[in-house]
Amino acid sequence: MNSITLIVNGVPCEAHDVRPHTTLLNWLRDQGLTGSKEGCAEGECGACAVLVARPAEDGGTRLESVNACLVMLAALNGGEVVTAEGLGSPGNLHPVQRELAVRGGSQCGYCTPGFVVSMAAEYYREDRRASDFDIHALSGNLCRCTGYRPIVDAALALGGPAQEDPFARRREQPAPAPQPTHLQTPDGEFHRPTTLAEAVDLLAANSGAVLLAGGTDWGVDVNLRHSRAAVTIALDGLPELRTLNWADDHLEIGAGLTLSEIERRLAGRVPLLAEWLPLFASRLIRNSATLGGNLGTASPIGDSPPVLLALDARVVLASNAGEREVPLSDYFTGYRRTVRRGDELIRAVRIPLPLAPITGFYKIAKRRFDDISSVAVGIALELDGEVVRSVRIGLGGVAATPIRAYATEEALTGQPWTERTVREAARVLRGEGTPLDDHRASAAYRAAMLEQALLKFYFEKTGQEVTV
Ligand SMILES: Cc1cc2nc3c(=O)[nH]c(=O)nc-3n(C[C@H](O)[C@H](O)[C@H](O)COP(=O)(O)OP(=O)(O)OC[C@H]3O[C@@H](n4cnc5c(N)ncnc54)[C@H](O)[C@@H]3O)c2cc1C
Ligand code: FES
Ligand code: FES
Repeated sequence: MNSITLIVNGVPCEAHDVRPHTTLLNWLRDQGLTGSKEGCAEGECGACAVLVARPAEDGGTRLESVNACLVMLAALNGGEVVTAEGLGSPGNLHPVQRELAVRGGSQCGYCTPGFVVSMAAEYYREDRRASDFDIHALSGNLCRCTGYRPIVDAALALGGPAQEDPFARRREQPAPAPQPTHLQTPDGEFHRPTTLAEAVDLLAANSGAVLLAGGTDWGVDVNLRHSRAAVTIALDGLPELRTLNWADDHLEIGAGLTLSEIERRLAGRVPLLAEWLPLFASRLIRNSATLGGNLGTASPIGDSPPVLLALDARVVLASNAGEREVPLSDYFTGYRRTVRRGDELIRAVRIPLPLAPITGFYKIAKRRFDDISSVAVGIALELDGEVVRSVRIGLGGVAATPIRAYATEEALTGQPWTERTVREAARVLRGEGTPLDDHRASAAYRAAMLEQALLKFYFEKTGQEVTV
């Protein structure tokens, strides 16, 4: 039967003949829930946003906004979804819908259900004060005709949910637990194990299977490149990938935690990650994307490697033969190639402690938010008085893989931390890697941005006036 069950807008539903590559958006629209729209099918516009019920740290439920165009339906077995239709109806508008309507926040209306959902997710954020609205909650939603002023006005006019609000009360109950799922369909197999042991056995038997975490890369491949996998193994049900532990000498971050969860659970305790995370895509994407997925793509322009290289992180790889740890600096072997074997998955990332005291992240992209990097630079520095004791610099976007800027690190180590040293080292940094000309940036621009990043780091951290 290849069936799964889920709750949609409070109603238990059964989906039959589920295929591994059917997105939640397509299924919802087939059920007549056409509020969620397809604008781009690649996570850029937010017209497809829906709420999913996820476990909160206190045992209750968090209602999080995600891009339904990138979520595979099969990975929602046992889950709970709320669409714009479920939030309110024409005769009984939700406060978010009412504010958008009375403040003129909708014209053609194509984007409106997506904005409603993203606003509702922020409205129900458990640590939000009634007078606060984090406008970045809407950073993954685009509107082509209204203009953002009335939409922002609507968001800022919102108070807090009433005590009897059914969604506010829903938060007090536990979220549904991930259901183990095994589908054998004419379009391929889909497995959602609920233990690591089962996952690595499946992977050993199906080396090279697609591992599905948040789907923010895989979903784009499925929708736009028509990629199909003979075997898909979903990782979101594995508790072993969802841990965050502080040990004496390292911090371990589970590869399956979403970036939003990492942001929330670290609460600024790793300043370099706190600087980086808000610049990654949008809230909608960060609610699904994982660290394992970012390293799993092995993209030379992925944002986490420059940061994690600066932090000297190690990758924990798991297979049914056990675990091994690889320094991230040895992990990438070529364009989208790594030392990870086909029977291994990334279980976690380990960051050595103590952290370097002075850190910075520079993402050079066409837009400040919600854009992919042309160049990214992560820097972690330790001084001994006025002398550089150690420095690590991770670079993205300037070679076939993310790289460490070893020559620049050498030019700085043991030298006085002065403008003169830094200017000389910045010229060395300019020559690191083998940047290419492409549609994002020219090679010359990328090299210039490397130099600027180190200078910016110096002037920011010393508080000195920039000299030219
Ligand atoms: C609109 C948009 C904006 C984006 N912006 C950014 C950005 O600013 N910066 C950036 O770096 N990226 C960005 N991305 C890319 C993407 O969001 C990230 O790469 C993300 O971290 C992928 O994580 P995921 O969990 O969604 O991976 P998935 O799509 O689930 O998987 C991606 C790949 O990794 C593999 N994989 C997943 N988990 C594991 C694991 N535990 N072990 C081994 N392999 C695994 C999968 O098999 C697959 O090949 C963006 C994507 C979109 C759609
Ligand atoms: S349709 Fe554009 S983000 Fe999903
Ligand atoms: S109201 Fe038309 S796209 Fe936003």
